[in-house]
Amino acid sequence: MDIKFVKRDVLKEKPDQKNLGFGKYMTDYMFVMDWDQGIGWHDARIEPYGPIEINPSCVTLHYAQETFEGLKAYRTKDGRILLFRPEMNAKRMITSNERLCMPGFPEDMFVEAIEELVKVEKDWIPSEPETSLYIRPFVFATEASLGVHQAISYKFMVICCPVGAYYPEGINPVKILVEDELVRAVQGGTGFTKCGGNYAASILGQVRAEAKGCTQVLWLDGVNRKYVEEVGTMNIMFKINGEIYTAPIEGTVLPGVTRDSIIHILKDWGYKVNETHLSVDDLMKAGHDGTLEESFGTGTAAVISPVGEFVYKDDSVVVNDFKIGELTQRLYDYLTGIQWGNEEDKYGWTREV
Ligand code: COI
Repeated sequence: MDIKFVKRDVLKEKPDQKNLGFGKYMTDYMFVMDWDQGIGWHDARIEPYGPIEINPSCVTLHYAQETFEGLKAYRTKDGRILLFRPEMNAKRMITSNERLCMPGFPEDMFVEAIEELVKVEKDWIPSEPETSLYIRPFVFATEASLGVHQAISYKFMVICCPVGAYYPEGINPVKILVEDELVRAVQGGTGFTKCGGNYAASILGQVRAEAKGCTQVLWLDGVNRKYVEEVGTMNIMFKINGEIYTAPIEGTVLPGVTRDSIIHILKDWGYKVNETHLSVDDLMKAGHDGTLEESFGTGTAAVISPVGEFVYKDDSVVVNDFKIGELTQRLYDYLTGIQWGNEEDKYGWTREV
């Protein structure tokens, strides 16, 4: 792909790597590419990060024809730069775009856009422990028209920001509210895609959870409000009686890259992984009778995040005395070891830029 480079006059000052938080500081440049009906993708460019002009009647602003992805670039101790399974993000975005009637692209185009931007922004990749460069690709309709329809023009953009932990808790356990009224996804809907609309619909649950002192929401299935599905920004797993349980990918749950990687690792370590429907009643029962040994969320932003407590209606269960479990810690160390180049990458998941 031919990518035009538009240089900025003055580079930004880089933030303190010890206080990055998540998603606050954008880098100097962004990748932009346009799609028009009859032409396809064209005009790939890397240009100074900054506001873009869109028409107030643009389809995205009204009907949310938009998808996004999230992945990270890691700086290793010996100065190499690694991406983690970027082709998985490409595949998922192609699937998301298909569902939202948006243009697809070859996987290579997505990966090349990211690699080229990361090369330009290599000085922004932090080196402090637990930090990385978060990469946010997104596609959105740009056509100016108020009729509800498949738009005829789109933009594909990639922006980046150096990040630390997603949750203020870091690797410490989080408290989670099981949402028993609102739902996130139903079969036939968009639950398996990474589209902005899924997240917009989740914010009320998040606000309610925070009002109850919880960090995140655990969503139940949209039909029976009975089976556990996923948490606001991550997939979720439970260790019950030595076996792992997590919701199956059947249309309502996001097929997480970290989820997939952790399942691979767990199986290699000899764990039985049950991708099955676990009811919230069975989860709470396991919490009360002590068979719920550990629980953790998995996600690119959140990495591996231990759960210390579940609150469901008037009931609550504390997991592992609100401490990070042994398996959770081992998974965190191993996965991040591969990502930061400290462990041998026997799966071939990292890609050097
Ligand atoms: C990610 O984990 O990359 C996500 O996209 C979750 C999020 C911050 C919405």
